[in-house]
Amino acid sequence: MTQQKLPQNSSTYDVMFSEGGHDDVFRLPYRHSCYYPMFRRVEHLLRRSGSRSVLEVGCGTGALAHLLLDTGRYSYKGFDFSIEAVKQASERTGRPDLFFACDARSPDAYAMAFDYDTIVCTEVLEHVDQDLDVIALWPAGRRMIATVPNFDSRYHVRFFRSPEEVAARYAPALDIERIETVKKPYSTNLSLRQRWREIRWARYKPKLLLKLLGFGRIDDVGCWFVVAGRTRNQGPKSVS
Ligand SMILES: C[S@@+](CC[C@H](N)C(=O)[O-])C[C@H]1O[C@@H](n2cnc3c(N)ncnc32)[C@H](O)[C@@H]1O
Repeated sequence: MTQQKLPQNSSTYDVMFSEGGHDDVFRLPYRHSCYYPMFRRVEHLLRRSGSRSVLEVGCGTGALAHLLLDTGRYSYKGFDFSIEAVKQASERTGRPDLFFACDARSPDAYAMAFDYDTIVCTEVLEHVDQDLDVIALWPAGRRMIATVPNFDSRYHVRFFRSPEEVAARYAPALDIERIETVKKPYSTNLSLRQRWREIRWARYKPKLLLKLLGFGRIDDVGCWFVVAGRTRNQGPKSVS
């Protein structure tokens, strides 16, 4: 069934974040969110590549920021064009100084990008028609980690069926070193209590039970493609 797409402006996301998202996912502690396996992979890649400072594009309600801050390994700044997202990210982390409201399509968003060795952008590019213009604003020669999904949504302007499709779109704009696949958990809320409840409800439904236990197929339960590499294009000039 074709999904009715939502307008890609900040008001759409202000509403989504005020309502909490599907099953309140954007308000969950990061460890309980279905995004947690993907966030962990991003942090693993950051650590492995020796990143020390992160500029996050489209930080949402700050779940990944919270995880990164909890590690104590990174200096961090994040922005989002949704004022509601920035408010919730500030509240979640108790660090309003680390977040600001800005549109990823504006060069202003990257005014301080030269202070950060890595650009992180999870689950944002598929929300933006001009995703390649956004990437072109990222300063050259930085490490980058971005994720995009293999599933559609009312908020998505595109999605990808394979790592090859991801490479075909982004290799002209980025020096891609790897594209990893992270399976999406079937449950939105990964807290033990919620998972136990879902498993009990599904105990006579073997197919559902298998998905809840993590045995679902990627093209059924969904996945994220995690793209790691370096930015290539010339971003806004450093103001010296
Ligand atoms: C699915 S959420 C992902 C949030 C967060 N990165 C995460 O992984 O949890 C998509 C985010 O992209 C942000 N976004 C979409 N278009 C944007 C734009 N042009 N500029 C800044 N943020 C944008 C939305 O406000 C929203 O926070």
